[in-house]
Amino acid sequence: MRNLFPSYVRVPVIFFTIFGLIEYFVDSGDEPAFLKYPVIMLFLLLILLVLIAIEGIVGSIENVLFQSLDEAGKERYLASKTKTPQFKALNNIYDKLKGKQKPIEEEHEIILDHNYDGIKELDNNLPPWWVWSFYISIVFAAVYLVRFHVIGTADFAAEELEKEYAQAKIEIEEYKKTAKNLVDVNTVTLLTDAADLKAGQSIFNANCVACHMADGGGGIGPNLTDNYWILGGGIKNVFHTISEGGRSGKGMISWKNDLKPIEMAQVASYVLSLEGTTPANPKEPEGDIWKPEGVDNVEVPEEVIETEVIEVETSTPAENND
Ligand code: HEC
Repeated sequence: MRNLFPSYVRVPVIFFTIFGLIEYFVDSGDEPAFLKYPVIMLFLLLILLVLIAIEGIVGSIENVLFQSLDEAGKERYLASKTKTPQFKALNNIYDKLKGKQKPIEEEHEIILDHNYDGIKELDNNLPPWWVWSFYISIVFAAVYLVRFHVIGTADFAAEELEKEYAQAKIEIEEYKKTAKNLVDVNTVTLLTDAADLKAGQSIFNANCVACHMADGGGGIGPNLTDNYWILGGGIKNVFHTISEGGRSGKGMISWKNDLKPIEMAQVASYVLSLEGTTPANPKEPEGDIWKPEGVDNVEVPEEVIETEVIEVETSTPAENND
């Protein structure tokens, strides 16, 4: 093997193998390990020097031994040095794959009579690898034909893709169910678990009390305990306000870079749990009374809604007369 690869190949190959192994096994984050830990750089340098030294020593030992040989020995040594390596097994495989082809010197025996403008046809044996690939492709084609076009049990690529998409959708839904962290403004729901609310409270205390007060009574920011909301109440709006921030210039920043989605859901749920409590120094209500979607606005008396409906009905026949 030593004779196969000269030292200028051997040394870099060994060196970079060690280098690669170190980079693979030493966990150094985004930076390469040898930059992060100078000691590794030093170690690699040492390895390189040792490799070069080994090459040098082995080379000179060989040289000394060579000088001590007699003439016949020297000749034998040189012959073994220049001998190209024999890959018997590989050659055998190659011969087998090639099959029994007429050597080029005997090709005149198998040339056919056909002559196309000087292009002649040679009736040589095909190599076995070629013949077998051909047979296998015939069998493949038959099986394919039956499966796809006769019984039709197999799916064409487009159908396969559709099925995979459907399956992926199911898996995404499953994953979303278990991955609380993936909540966004469309999927967020009011969390009522004591643990979630407690987590929400500590996030609130850490980030929000400066402007909203510990009891939510309000200061720089609006009162969070009344049912008046500037930017809309309900879990989705509150989540949206926390995630994207309030109206520009008012002081309520977007928190999505500081808080994880689940944390925003927790603190939003905590804020909503404050509704109806009585803070020490409540700020004046700001914004409008928030009513969740689908619930009739109780502020409007029932009769008003009815008269509106009647108005619509009376106007319909008038339109028909036109
Ligand atoms: C620098 C002061 C400040 C901090 C800190 C702050 N807010 Fe606000 N917050 C405000 C202001 C000001 C508004 C009103 C925004 C507007 O009018 O558009 C507001 C509005 C809100 C609203 C909407 C209220 C409504 O009536 O629609 C919610 C909910 C809210 N903040 C929650 C939070 C939460 C939760 C935190 C902590 C993660 C927080 N805020 C941190 C100043 C702050």
